[in-house]
Amino acid sequence: MRSLRTALSLASLVTGALMLFTAPAAHAADTPLRDLAAAKGKIVGTAVTGSKLTGTYGDIAGAQFSSLTPGNAMKWGSVEPTQGSFNWTEADQIVAFAEAHGQQVRGHTLVWHNQNPSWLTNGSWTSAQLSSLLQNHISTEVGRYKGRIAAWDVVNEPFNEDGTYRSTLWYNGLGADYIANALTWAHAADPAAKLYINDYNVEGVNAKSTALYNLVKSLKDRGVPIDGVGLQAHLILGQVPSTLQQNIQRFADLGVDVAITELDVRMALPADSAKLAQQAADYKSVVAACVAVARCVNVTVWGFADSDSWVPSTFPGYGAATPYDDNYAPKPAYYGIAEALGGTTTPPPSTDGCTAAYSVTNQWSTGFTGEVRIACSGASLSSWKVNWTYGAGQQVTQAWNATCTQSGAAVTCANASYNGTVPDGGSVTFGFNGSWSGSNPVPTVTLG
Ligand code: G3I
Repeated sequence: MRSLRTALSLASLVTGALMLFTAPAAHAADTPLRDLAAAKGKIVGTAVTGSKLTGTYGDIAGAQFSSLTPGNAMKWGSVEPTQGSFNWTEADQIVAFAEAHGQQVRGHTLVWHNQNPSWLTNGSWTSAQLSSLLQNHISTEVGRYKGRIAAWDVVNEPFNEDGTYRSTLWYNGLGADYIANALTWAHAADPAAKLYINDYNVEGVNAKSTALYNLVKSLKDRGVPIDGVGLQAHLILGQVPSTLQQNIQRFADLGVDVAITELDVRMALPADSAKLAQQAADYKSVVAACVAVARCVNVTVWGFADSDSWVPSTFPGYGAATPYDDNYAPKPAYYGIAEALGGTTTPPPSTDGCTAAYSVTNQWSTGFTGEVRIACSGASLSSWKVNWTYGAGQQVTQAWNATCTQSGAAVTCANASYNGTVPDGGSVTFGFNGSWSGSNPVPTVTLG
């Protein structure tokens, strides 16, 4: 994909006029996710990076989502890199963008064992000092955004997999009550904000989620301000826990809200059409589980585009985890979310009476030129898309008169802005160059 993109952008510099590689944003005719979610009484969000909130990224973030979570900008290490010296630039930018687009903000995160400033983690503190540092941090950050943050992930990832408390700066220095104190201080700084505990691998019913359940129950019994639990949902393809909805329901029955806070579904690369279809089903089932429980209030994806995901750098060989591809084109996963929110995917135009034929028009030792001819008889098209899967490792390197993308073996080519119409009795042809080795069999193409 990356090499195709590089080749295509190089080619576009060279050949100019006919080269088109502008990825579409979500189809204009489809209802944005935020509107679909609103009709279900839900919020749909994404994690964002402040510096990217312009151009296509900003357009999609603003149009499709009703909540933004700063992916990194509000973490302690970001806002107070040097003790007493604050940097709110990116956090302010994201909050301002959200307000300009009628969006909520999920504050993320106040108390964590990662992404803390080194002056904090390298210091040696008495427990009284540590407690006062934490209280000041929470009061300062929550106070700064008072009235502007819908919900805070106050405490992030407090548990081990077996349900015991994670050994951290906070737990080791302050004991388990750091959690109750953090919630109490956050509530004092912004009584209107909903306060959450957020963790991963707590999506299904298991030892860790049961520990979280017992903690929330005891906090509520003690009158500690706790409004919700965040289930991060960093999932693996095909592994949505079967007890997800049951687990959401048991938290709801405790009297707290639930949010899916960091949803992504990673797969072994390269992606192919079967994996992308499974991913769509996975996204759909997670969103459907939230839709099914009234107190599940928000589903947030952890970055909406594959190019903005944390997955490839953390899990080498894995990626393609989000609902949009590297070029901001919606993937099947996007439509999985939309369908779970009650949206109907725009049906592709009927192709009855129209056919697509693939041929190799020139071939040399390492490369070839191919073309696809779309012809209609007794029918017509106003837009078209042609798909095929290469069986011998061929790779499209350049295309003209169409916008082509390749992910693994799967190629999709869509009409350029000027040749979507194929009249009854007419035809349109587009071409491409590709690489091959060994053999170069002609694939079966489908017209959509
Ligand atoms: O900003 C620096 C940049 O200056 C430097 O050049 C670059 C070189 O490595 O690093 C940049 O910082 C990176 C930062 O993301 C911003 O991109 C850090 O190395 C990198 O470790 C950090 O990763 C973040 C990760 O949390 C840290 O644990 C991810 O972006 C962020 O998406 C991820 O988010 C967490 C949630 O907060 C909690 N749940 C899990 C989730 C995924 O890990």
